[in-house]
Amino acid sequence: MCGIIAYIGKKPAQPILVEGLKRLEYRGYDSAGVGFINDGEINITKSSGRINALEEQLETPDKTNLLGIAHTRWATHGQPNTTNAHPHLDYTGKIAVVHNGIIENYNTLKTWLQNNGCEFVSDTDTEVISNLIGYFYASNDGPGDSQNKFEWAVQTALNELVGTYGLAIICSDWPEMLICAKKGSPLILGIGKNEYVIASDASAIVEHTTQAIYLADNEMATMGPDSFRTKTIDNIEIRKDLKEIEFSLDAIELDGFEHYMLKEICEQPSALSTCLGGRIDARNGKVVLGGLDNHWRELTRAKRVIINACGTAWHAGLVGEFLLEQFVRISTETEYASEFRYRNPIIDDGTIVIAVSQSGETADTLAAIEQAKERGATVLGIVNVVGSTIARTTDAGIYLRVGPEIGVASTKAFTAQVAVLTMLAIEMGRRKHISDETAKYYIEELAAIPEKIKTILKQSEHIKEIAAANITKDNWLFLGRGFNYPVALEGALKLKEISYIHAEGLPAAEMKHGPIALINDNMPTVFIATKCSQYEKILGNIEEVKARGGRTIVVATEGDEEIKKIADHLITVPEVPEALQPLVTVIPLQLLAYHAAVLRGHDVDKPRNLAKSVTVE
Ligand code: G6P
Repeated sequence: MCGIIAYIGKKPAQPILVEGLKRLEYRGYDSAGVGFINDGEINITKSSGRINALEEQLETPDKTNLLGIAHTRWATHGQPNTTNAHPHLDYTGKIAVVHNGIIENYNTLKTWLQNNGCEFVSDTDTEVISNLIGYFYASNDGPGDSQNKFEWAVQTALNELVGTYGLAIICSDWPEMLICAKKGSPLILGIGKNEYVIASDASAIVEHTTQAIYLADNEMATMGPDSFRTKTIDNIEIRKDLKEIEFSLDAIELDGFEHYMLKEICEQPSALSTCLGGRIDARNGKVVLGGLDNHWRELTRAKRVIINACGTAWHAGLVGEFLLEQFVRISTETEYASEFRYRNPIIDDGTIVIAVSQSGETADTLAAIEQAKERGATVLGIVNVVGSTIARTTDAGIYLRVGPEIGVASTKAFTAQVAVLTMLAIEMGRRKHISDETAKYYIEELAAIPEKIKTILKQSEHIKEIAAANITKDNWLFLGRGFNYPVALEGALKLKEISYIHAEGLPAAEMKHGPIALINDNMPTVFIATKCSQYEKILGNIEEVKARGGRTIVVATEGDEEIKKIADHLITVPEVPEALQPLVTVIPLQLLAYHAAVLRGHDVDKPRNLAKSVTVE
């Protein structure tokens, strides 16, 4: 949600910034801008729309421009127009800022600054930051000889802000100085040889260096072309360790696919193999999760689990709830992180909180973690992005290990989240409740899932035909029972996100309590009706829809002749134990949403109004 990148070094900054913005575009894509210092003046170019639009406006780069800041925006305050695009200048024209986050006290600060003669031109909260820095920079106060005034003005301003920020700041009087700071929003400092690339995530840095510093909240860095120092925003020098960014550039290339989403759907067999690799020991029937080594005692004694997540990760969490209840017989609730944190949640001794997040940066999930920690809970993280804020904030955790997910609609992260929760549930269960034989059976079945997914992916063309046959329909229902109920929710979310078709996911039995009134031949109903303990019941639900003239798209188990007779469209998945079915039944729904969106002509990887990493609450 908003991406920032800044460069200082020996190379022309503009191409580096523009390439970086393209890598960060998934974080927001409603407007973009860059800022440089030319002949003692700040020079800003902005545009509404995508990075390409900005690129068209940029002239051939000035080769002497070795410092710059840039931004791609997902609007929070103010419309996505050019005026509200970043960078934002202060009222004196000397300070320019790019910002990711939200300033909560911006109204109070804005009024105060206006009363003190500062003019505002945009509707953004960010302009308060540039103006506040500009105000202190122009004031008669200052640090004296002990510190440069630009750095002092930034620190003084940051101490007034309430809210979150990842910031990169330049000042026209200091053409060889870049300041960046962080609180609540991600910011990574890429440390190259005589150059520094600062960005919201590693994808924009790895091309230049794999050495990085991860700033913590309330920390800042002041960088010149050859050196840098890190401090707290209260001007206390701090030493930060260099970390290696583990991220390969190949992982963020399209690799011949038309879209990242399709690439990531098709990658699931290999991604899941990596996720499971070295963690499941099928021969001995054990799961090895190194990140939890010191926590098994606590986990096996736990009385209750609360899973916190948002969006697709919440759906994975719901599957996790069912798995933990089945294998561990432990009371588990899956909470929307945004609701949990404001509800004065009850956390007793023996409550374990699990945060599930692909990006590891979702503001709602982070806030829920903080709330849980304040109340004394042990918090585990199930996260994809290594070194992300959630990964660092939680007490222990398990990485997904599926590589970067670029498509805004989450796919491979979902299956990996479910796979990790499955491993956790099996191992917790084995230590508490289920027999070694049962654990071994499920581990063997889990190990076989990647190959089974391959057979589903082969049906992509058939699924595309189903999407085409229903593409004019504007309302869809997704129904599933038991373990496939969260999959119904996820199938509906995928369709909504990228094809902008209205879709609702429900437990199949709930249909008769209201939604059945919607059924007619204009409303495709997608059933997940694989062989499971509620199979007969869901057959009944399919008949109920058919009796009312509805059209059905059914995901069923291979070889199911009975369902073949009643489904209007049939997609089959290999046989899998009930508790592991979400790992296979979600695949055709991802493909269905993908093909529907392509057929409708939408930008699959960058759906309107969405962003991948939602760093605002
Ligand atoms: C956004 C994305 C979703 C994602 C959710 C949670 O809404 O568009 O795809 O599921 O955030 O993100 P997280 O990174 O915490 O899994």
